[in-house]
Amino acid sequence: MEKLVIEGGKPLSGSVRIHGAKNAALPVLAASMMAAGVHRIGNVPDLLDIHVMLDILRALGCKAELKDDVVTLETSSANSSHVPEELMTQMRSSIFLMGPLLSRFGHVQVYQPGGCAIGERKIDLHLKGLQALGATIEESGNTITCRAERLKGTDVSLDYPSVGATENIMMAAALAEGVTTISGAAREPEIQDLQNFLNSMGANMIGAGTDTITIEGVESLTPQAYRVIPDRIVTGTLMVAAAVTRGNVTLENVCPPHLTSVIHVLKRAGVQIATRDDIMIVNCSARPKSVERIITSPHPSFPTDLQAQMMVLLSLADGISVMKETVFEGRFKHVDELTRMGADIRVDLSSAFIRGVPRLYGATVEATDLRAGAALVIAGLAASGTTIVEQVHHIDRGYDRIENMFGRLGAKIERFSPVRQLKVP
Ligand code: EPZ
Repeated sequence: MEKLVIEGGKPLSGSVRIHGAKNAALPVLAASMMAAGVHRIGNVPDLLDIHVMLDILRALGCKAELKDDVVTLETSSANSSHVPEELMTQMRSSIFLMGPLLSRFGHVQVYQPGGCAIGERKIDLHLKGLQALGATIEESGNTITCRAERLKGTDVSLDYPSVGATENIMMAAALAEGVTTISGAAREPEIQDLQNFLNSMGANMIGAGTDTITIEGVESLTPQAYRVIPDRIVTGTLMVAAAVTRGNVTLENVCPPHLTSVIHVLKRAGVQIATRDDIMIVNCSARPKSVERIITSPHPSFPTDLQAQMMVLLSLADGISVMKETVFEGRFKHVDELTRMGADIRVDLSSAFIRGVPRLYGATVEATDLRAGAALVIAGLAASGTTIVEQVHHIDRGYDRIENMFGRLGAKIERFSPVRQLKVP
């Protein structure tokens, strides 16, 4: 398996452009199934998860090509609503294809996505929402089959502001008969991006970004050209990396309003952050300060997807901090690896107690999931000595060649692929 080798201790400097948001592009690509014809989706990052989504759309009969961050998608040829199991297991968030496929074909077959390194990843809210819109759902083994002649608008109340469930219900309701209101909706910027894309195709919905979304079903949608928002989690990852290496970095193609809680926390840690339009400058010349308590929760609060990365900064901060993870029950897998690099972290249920240390030391560590892997790269950039990060494929799911991104900022970081053993005859 590929690995990254990092020589730590160099302050990051220079500028880098933020690529498009994985978690906006995925639902937008799924929603494109709802309108037959040619879509052109721009600012799409070249990531493993994006390629899995394109493979799923091809398996459903579409033609799909990603070239220079633009996906050209021909969905008229779609002829199946059966999402292949082996592709679903590669990317559990493909569960939000249920809404689009149910709307287009009146039928969809998917598979229980199952848990992962960060938690159980339940889908009960997705299924309840689709049932409320009139779908019948059959589960046998790990196969889920959904049917609906035509979905009917209704009031749906989410017990938890699930991002994926909100997206699934929005897409299912867009072509349903009548009006749907989703209360308790997720408020992430990616939800607003999905609403903007659906409305550009002719849907009629308002309220994304608040906890109540109102959707008036329409008869049909038309294919569009669209450009997704920048990736706020990649932005936050770079912000933390600049801080822990005591660097001075300029980030381009940023959307500061998507990062209010992250900017607030980093400023409390003593990081200097200046923004103008879509430019952000991050500067940290002294040791970061500890932050008494950070609690991850749904947007607009501090995002769970930056919890691991922020923990690296707290591990090097001057003082004791507490990080509480409330979104995923298993999202502390990076703690053991950081401890092996010299961090002083104690976990008690969903809280991590972090006593800052003056420095971390290079070690061979393993990425267990996407954001934990990114955190270990950041730790390697800050550590003294050499860090080897293994299982890099987890990181490639959400970062387009992370070594190039940091390399452009002066980091000494290289990817090594295992030498294929030649079979001697
Ligand atoms: C999306 O996942 C993101 N993925 C995740 O990013 C992100 O961490 C998460 O939202 C929270 O912001 C994509 O957008 C592709 P949820 P999703 O449904 O939709 C529970 C990354 O690193 N839940 O909001 O799966 C669930 O178990 C990834 O880019 C139910 O109980 O997240 C979890 O504890 C990781 N029942 C919590 O809600 C349900 O039906 C949040 O899940 C659905 C969810």
